[in-house]
Amino acid sequence: MPDDPSVLPAIGTTGDVSAAALDAAVDVLRAGGLVAVPTETVYGLAAAASDTDAVRRIFAVKGRPADHPVIVHLAGADRLDDWAEDVPPAARALAEALWPGPLTLVLRRRPTVPDVVTGGRDTVGLRVPAHPVALGLLEALGDGLAAPSANRFGRVSPTRAEHVVADLGGDVDLVLDGGPCRVGVESTIVEVLDDHVRVLRSGDVTAAHLAAVLGRPVDVDVDGPARAPGMLAAHYAPRARVVLAEHGLPEVVTELVSAGRRVGVLAERIEGELPGPVVDLGAVGDPDGYARHLYERLRAADALGLDVVVAVPPAPEGIGLAVRDRLARAAHAAG
Ligand code: TXA
Ligand code: MG
Repeated sequence: MPDDPSVLPAIGTTGDVSAAALDAAVDVLRAGGLVAVPTETVYGLAAAASDTDAVRRIFAVKGRPADHPVIVHLAGADRLDDWAEDVPPAARALAEALWPGPLTLVLRRRPTVPDVVTGGRDTVGLRVPAHPVALGLLEALGDGLAAPSANRFGRVSPTRAEHVVADLGGDVDLVLDGGPCRVGVESTIVEVLDDHVRVLRSGDVTAAHLAAVLGRPVDVDVDGPARAPGMLAAHYAPRARVVLAEHGLPEVVTELVSAGRRVGVLAERIEGELPGPVVDLGAVGDPDGYARHLYERLRAADALGLDVVVAVPPAPEGIGLAVRDRLARAAHAAG
């Protein structure tokens, strides 16, 4: 296995998707290989979803438990019925309104969907990504793409091609470089079974968006007992310990610094002076910026060899809810 994968620029200087990059990716996928693909949320580690051996390789490369299902990415909502059955009207309404976009629908699966994709469940997670490279590849391949985030299990998701290379090296055959991801945190996962609509993972599409489309409120169960398998209490963790400082940032930082810890701070903005040795990981500005930059800043903390990241969470509304969820899991991992 080579140490480095091939990396191809997938977007040209005029913003067009590179046909040569897509051709190369299709060749790799048809031969059973793995391709890292940019989406609007994070980079995915993709295999042709109908190729069970290739999907199995995803689990091996990630070190992911076999009972954690992977999302199948589709070229358009018109492919929904190839993968799901008994699709409720609410699911069609959400797909119609919010695809392509950062929304995964968990639906009853068709019997033809490989067990390795669903972790043996009777449901399948489906989404149409809002990214020209991912959509171009799906069209060119003519199959779904099974793709979890392109990181090792439990670690921080990649939002740039170089993150994938740093994490997975030659274990991925080809990386399509589509630049930094626009959203920065993973898709909202919504289970729609019969009449019951339930959010299993928070993301850029909020419960309020879903309710507005459906004309009725939806359930939110993002902390239920392993509702979305793989959404563990401890997840999304850098090597540095993550400490949340809802209030009293100066006191939290001062205590850690006096205990000899190398500390970085992550916040929308930092008011006033921080004690001398503390690294400002860069203000993220607003909740969208927080989501977009969260994972790269956690990676930067590790690259700088920091012991602790003190994070001031964004307000609990909009995408701020997803950022708070990921920060809480990263903090939990540190124990
Ligand atoms: O934004 C995203 O969703 C990214 C990009 C690449 O699309 N993908 C992603 O995949 O975050 P992954 O594997 O890191 O997270 C997928 C989550 C897991 O927690 C998994 O358990 C859940 O989706 N999931 C997939 N199928 C499911 C199902 N049938 N029932 C419940 N949860 C499911
Ligand atoms: Mg993941």
